[in-house]
Amino acid sequence: MRTFYCNEINESLVGQEVQVCGWVNKIRDHGGVIFIDLRDAKGLVQVVVNPDINELFKTAESVRSEFIISVLGKPRLRPKGSENLKIDSGKVEIVTTDMVILSKADPPPFQFSDDVNEDNRLKYRVHDLKSKKMQHNLKIRNDVVTIIRRFLSDCDFLDIETPVLTKATPEGARDYLVPSRVNQGLFYALPQSPQLFKQLLMMSGYEKYYQIAKCFRDEDLRADRQPEFTQLDIEISFRDQDYIISLIEKLFIEIFKKILNFNISLPIEKISYSDAMNRFGSDSPDMRIPFEIKNISSAVENCDFKVFANPAKKSGCKVSALCIPSEAKLSRKDIDSYTDFAISKGSQGLAYIKCNDIKDIENGLQSPIVKFLDAATIKEILSTLNASNGDIIFFSAGSENLVNLILGNLRNKIAEEKNLIEDSWKFVWITDFPMFEHDIDTKKWKCMHHPFTMPIYENVKDIQEHPGKLLSKSYDLVLNGTELGGGSIRINNPEVQNSVFKVLGLSDEDIKNKFGFFIDSMKYGCPPHGGIAFGLDRIIMLLTKSNSIREVIAFPKTQTASCSLTGAPASINKSQINDLGLSYTDKNLKK
Ligand code: AMO
Ligand code: AMP
Repeated sequence: MRTFYCNEINESLVGQEVQVCGWVNKIRDHGGVIFIDLRDAKGLVQVVVNPDINELFKTAESVRSEFIISVLGKPRLRPKGSENLKIDSGKVEIVTTDMVILSKADPPPFQFSDDVNEDNRLKYRVHDLKSKKMQHNLKIRNDVVTIIRRFLSDCDFLDIETPVLTKATPEGARDYLVPSRVNQGLFYALPQSPQLFKQLLMMSGYEKYYQIAKCFRDEDLRADRQPEFTQLDIEISFRDQDYIISLIEKLFIEIFKKILNFNISLPIEKISYSDAMNRFGSDSPDMRIPFEIKNISSAVENCDFKVFANPAKKSGCKVSALCIPSEAKLSRKDIDSYTDFAISKGSQGLAYIKCNDIKDIENGLQSPIVKFLDAATIKEILSTLNASNGDIIFFSAGSENLVNLILGNLRNKIAEEKNLIEDSWKFVWITDFPMFEHDIDTKKWKCMHHPFTMPIYENVKDIQEHPGKLLSKSYDLVLNGTELGGGSIRINNPEVQNSVFKVLGLSDEDIKNKFGFFIDSMKYGCPPHGGIAFGLDRIIMLLTKSNSIREVIAFPKTQTASCSLTGAPASINKSQINDLGLSYTDKNLKK
């Protein structure tokens, strides 16, 4: 049927017979001559229909936007001045000798050029996916997956599939459950990740595993979270953290070079979790923002201003500051709105110093707090923050967590609102996460990564005795403020694994029911191993500069975890419920 793609039609084909197929992108009737822009998966070409063949002209006249047609004809050079150099075929046009309508189409629900709201785009996703942007995004996705597969296969990794109908894997979200018909009253959980299976494969001696795996998490959705998403999942035996980090860096160098022609410069900085929280107030810091949080407790601990001196001296508390460069051009109104923002996040206030002339401590600083501070303290603060004239310094005093939260959020907010984010690619590894964190709501310990992460301990008994003090052998890769992936060295000793479960409050029976198969497998021998998993959707989102992962997933879910195209989730028949042995009180249930 087709002899060439639209973008392949060029001067070299002038006078030859060609056949192209595709969608009618645009149709123009120029007083007796019809011009059609034909679109296929590779590009566009202009097709001309003259009125001399009556039958053909009638067909062309009946064609509408988005009809699918096949065109037979001969390319000719376009008249001087009417070339379109924006498209590959723009120097020529096809003079049509025959045209067949392969499929008629109703008027499209919207034009790609329109500013269409996302609900409509998702409802008419089949049409939306025809757009240049979506075709580009899905092509990049394919290209990245191809690079990943080649790279890992060349490094001897095996692609091994793991089950989708399985048992819960604790990654911190709610499970999607599937009732079993054959085993009534029992449920499969869809995997939140292939974590347990990839570790079992290490025990089975596969040593290097990877998978592009679908994962399912029933959690609150955001621009970078979908209920069903894709991970690049990797696991490797007999290698340490440095090896895994270096392997991943090589993979990202390859992806960024091939897709964007961008050279990632090594080494990618490594920052401990604790430093990241203190310097950026976040474990996924955006390193493109050119200012960071500085601790000024030692400068203010002996001053007379109690709002600062008290937390500066108290354990678990501190005073920190953020110096916003003069380019931000903050107004009085901005300062008030940032103060309201800080208060809305739980702060008592947001002290500031506006540096008009830092040489003139007495008259050159505008601030509600300088009257409480002596000149030496002020000088020390200005020097710690490396302040210049025109800068504004914001202060937060209180518990370490609150101060990090306030100033970390403020750092991102001001940088975004005042366009202070550099246009670049800034990677950073965050390492040494605490093994456990205390959940204030449940008053229980929970894992910061997951319970299979190796804690850094001297004696196994420390794990249960001092859980809050333990760090773990864990690492996240962050790009431009988005967590791309995370991983760890794993526990390979049943005793350690049991202790971790115990800290989480699991009884012996819980451990046996939930993870008995895993610990039992470990008892038959488990090599030292570790791994990592990346959100593939997030990688593609950043590479295509999209503002949501929905832009890089062909058929994503909406914010309410539903599919506007198919209508999933949908009601089911009473008989299906009966087959599954479930009882229900669902108003949506069909009779
Ligand atoms: P983690 O839970 O950190 O680790 O997930 C790894 C990466 O998956 C992506 N991700 C998501 N992407 C889209 N929508 C979601 N709902 C979503 N949740 C997570 C993120 C994240 O960094 N088994 C471990 C990995 C390991 O230890 O090897 C795990 O799943 O980019
Ligand atoms: P006050 O003495 O409460 O009037 O506070 C004096 C200044 O300190 C005001 O600008 C407040 O916004 C600021 N302030 C008060 N509490 C804090 C705090 N915990 N952190 C930072 N600034 C604060």
